[in-house]
Amino acid sequence: MSAGIGFIGAGKMAEALIGGLIAKNVFDRDGIIACAPHESTRKRVSRTYEIRVLGTAKEVCSEADIVVLAVKPKQVPEVFAEGLDLGGKVLISIVAGLTLEKLRAYVPDAKNIRVMPNHCCMVLEGAMGYCCDPSVTDADKAAVADILGSVGLAVEVGEEYMDAITGIAGSSPAFLYLVIDAMADAGVLNGLSRADSTRLAAQSMLGAAKMVLETGRHPDVLRDEVCSPGGTTIVGVRAAEDMGLRAAMIAAVDSTIEKSREMSRGQ
Ligand SMILES: NC(=O)c1ccc[n+]([C@@H]2O[C@H](COP(=O)([O-])OP(=O)(O)OC[C@H]3O[C@@H](n4cnc5c(N)ncnc54)[C@H](OP(=O)(O)O)[C@@H]3O)[C@@H](O)[C@H]2O)c1
Repeated sequence: MSAGIGFIGAGKMAEALIGGLIAKNVFDRDGIIACAPHESTRKRVSRTYEIRVLGTAKEVCSEADIVVLAVKPKQVPEVFAEGLDLGGKVLISIVAGLTLEKLRAYVPDAKNIRVMPNHCCMVLEGAMGYCCDPSVTDADKAAVADILGSVGLAVEVGEEYMDAITGIAGSSPAFLYLVIDAMADAGVLNGLSRADSTRLAAQSMLGAAKMVLETGRHPDVLRDEVCSPGGTTIVGVRAAEDMGLRAAMIAAVDSTIEKSREMSRGQ
């Protein structure tokens, strides 16, 4: 049997992608396969998504046209120890820190793509950067853009920018959760319930993000539009600036990027 796409690993990120591909009709359920060593995972994933879930990566590589590597970094050597033959197929790796050079060492004939996603893929609102081997064709890139686009926004970059992608996309939901929680604290401080405060803060972040993405206007222009002269909002903006919100966010992303560079150098 054959399949359009096959996942090596059927954990959280593979499930997010499988869910997105089905929801956005990129592949039929028949065209998606996965594998996992534990029977409990195989049963759960095949029942949830009504797809075939096999026992080994070898079977996935022989059946699927495009293969996605979605195991934990420490599981990678074990996967390739199976002696995988990908021929000239596209291999999309979402494994953190696994460089194109290392992928080429494992599977020299494959057309490799390295992706850094974030966990918002699970709600189909991920932010991702990816880079490609020179052998990846324009047709391959179009297919990959459809696959990654099913779970969020994906931007192609040179591999030298993958550490920067880790800061701006991979890790950034953690910083934004801090902001949502801090806003909710202020709501609670002023008598709102924790539940209402958290939902309203989160929805405000979602709405603001959509305004930036859908209007294409610069965030500063949008901010100016909601600040009436002498009004409530500009007072809040000044307080946020005084308390160093902008500097704190730059430092959060920048220090993550530096840590990612350090880890890349150490590998
Ligand atoms: N989670 C995130 O937020 C996030 C964000 C960015 C990038 N990533 C990257 O995404 C990758 C996957 O992360 P995850 O959170 O989805 O991990 P996960 O939930 O732990 O899933 C890993 C999957 O790999 C399977 N597996 C283990 N050994 C295998 C083998 N030898 N052959 C085939 N399958 C094997 C496991 O099967 P069993 O269930 O049977 O054990 C499991 O289904 C990681 O490399 C991570 O760096 C994750």
